[in-house]
Amino acid sequence: MKDILQELDARRQTARIGGGQRRIDAQHSKGKLTARERIDLLLDEGSFEEFDMFVAHRCTEFGMQEDRPAGDGVVTGWGTINGRMVYVFSQDFTVFGGSLSETHAQKICKIQDMAVQNGAPIIGINDSGGARIQEGVASLAGYAEVFQRNIMASGVVPQISLIMGPCAGGAVYSPAMTDFIFMVKDTSYMFVTGPDVVKTVTNEVVTAEELGGASTHTKKSSVADGAFENDVEALAEVRRLVDFLPLNNREKPPVRPFFDDVNRIETSLDTLVPENPNTPYDMKELIQKLADEGDFYEIQEDFAKNILTGFVRLEGGTVGVVANQPTVLAGCLDIDASRKAARFVRFCDAFEIPILTLVDVPGFLPGTSQEYGGVIKHGAKLLFAYGEATVPKVTVITRKAYGGAYDVMASKHLRGDFNYAWPTAEIAVMGAKGATEILYRSELGDAEKIAERTADYEDRFANPFVAAEKGFIDEVIMPQSTRKRVSRAFASLRNKNLKNPWKKHDNIPL
Ligand code: HXC
Repeated sequence: MKDILQELDARRQTARIGGGQRRIDAQHSKGKLTARERIDLLLDEGSFEEFDMFVAHRCTEFGMQEDRPAGDGVVTGWGTINGRMVYVFSQDFTVFGGSLSETHAQKICKIQDMAVQNGAPIIGINDSGGARIQEGVASLAGYAEVFQRNIMASGVVPQISLIMGPCAGGAVYSPAMTDFIFMVKDTSYMFVTGPDVVKTVTNEVVTAEELGGASTHTKKSSVADGAFENDVEALAEVRRLVDFLPLNNREKPPVRPFFDDVNRIETSLDTLVPENPNTPYDMKELIQKLADEGDFYEIQEDFAKNILTGFVRLEGGTVGVVANQPTVLAGCLDIDASRKAARFVRFCDAFEIPILTLVDVPGFLPGTSQEYGGVIKHGAKLLFAYGEATVPKVTVITRKAYGGAYDVMASKHLRGDFNYAWPTAEIAVMGAKGATEILYRSELGDAEKIAERTADYEDRFANPFVAAEKGFIDEVIMPQSTRKRVSRAFASLRNKNLKNPWKKHDNIPL
């Protein structure tokens, strides 16, 4: 008996060192943690339960039968984050570069299946050279099995990907189908084909960092939702994100204890909107002043900064926030902002997270680059996402709500539950200057007359009361009491029950 116990212990020890001390040291020398160290930091201490520690590959090509490390390059299992269950896989770069073999894929598929069955999020830590070259098509098949499960799990359990090393080829498509992707600066890369292939095919000379580093994917491509300084910070931030999310689509988001008075009055908000309608102000200030303890978890902070997306808590419950940001492009909607916000709204709706929309939008960005880029279709994504969402929707218009953008930003007409406006709101087809120039084109030579017409237009339309008279705005509220009003609105919607007509699925303008 003692011998058997010793053997188990010895086998475990061997499995735990993966590709060996030399490769672990190499991993550390790059500033990266090992697969197991990452799991230890991600999960509550001592909560990790491992599966398939002794799984080994079955490949016999290229002398692979001589090298069959236990675990086959991925550590899988479940554990807890602040007491709430999650499933996790963590690729071990020290074993064949974390590359994906048939058996490696089977280990991932097993925890994907269990996560869906048991209703808990899946967190994937990716550090992989892609398909295991020695295995050929068996590896490609393994990828497709993982992809299929990503698709089936989408909208059922939250899926979060951490990119913590090179991720090439197949290694990028599984993360691409998850809800959130986080990268680590300077040590993680994502590309379909690496710099060498790019040079051969297109003659472009580009570094790995330029092609698929954290900066590229958080600022240019928007493939990634956030970038962190190192592994430790990234893992800590994912723990923080998980705290905002429900475990699955059948559960409500968690309600955390809160120590912030829901009736807190913020008199500074009464002067947040400047006198001059063209002067920007920082919408983040409003979000932070609204949120419990000022805590705002921003998603895609570095992309399409003209719109803000992220999570806050009100009375301890998670709320998704979408807000125009007047400090960037005057807060107008463009292709990037529409795509960013639409995806966020759909995530919230899939997981029963109520949506707060803060509006200060002068319209859609005009121009050939927008039209040629398909702003019609991309803008329609956001319109569609808001319109199909059945979660509680509360909207506050702080200043401009012009034209189509008024409709899009969770207006009453898209089944907004509470549509509030500050007294500074201007709800109109367009701004006063543009409107007078069109309506009174023949008087354009007469500056005095045009000024008179503009003032008249402002008096008539640059306020929230025309919309309030029609019931499109439920109430004009004092800026200082926004936290209280919005929190009470969401509280009243806790039992909201709205269903869309049965369909196989919709056809959102992709
Ligand atoms: C088998 C691999 C491997 C792979 C790396 N290794 N990638 N083994 N299959 N795909 C092994 C190396 O042989 C090496 O083994 C160890 O991992 C570390 O690799 P290094 O090259 O020494 O590390 P580094 O210099 O950091 O470079 C990492 C890398 C590079 C950028 C990932 O290894 C690389 O370019 N690998 C190939 C990437 C690739 O083209 N993959 C296939 C993509 S196609 P030792 O024994 O020395 O430690 C694909 C198709 C799927 O994925 C499509 C599905 C849709």
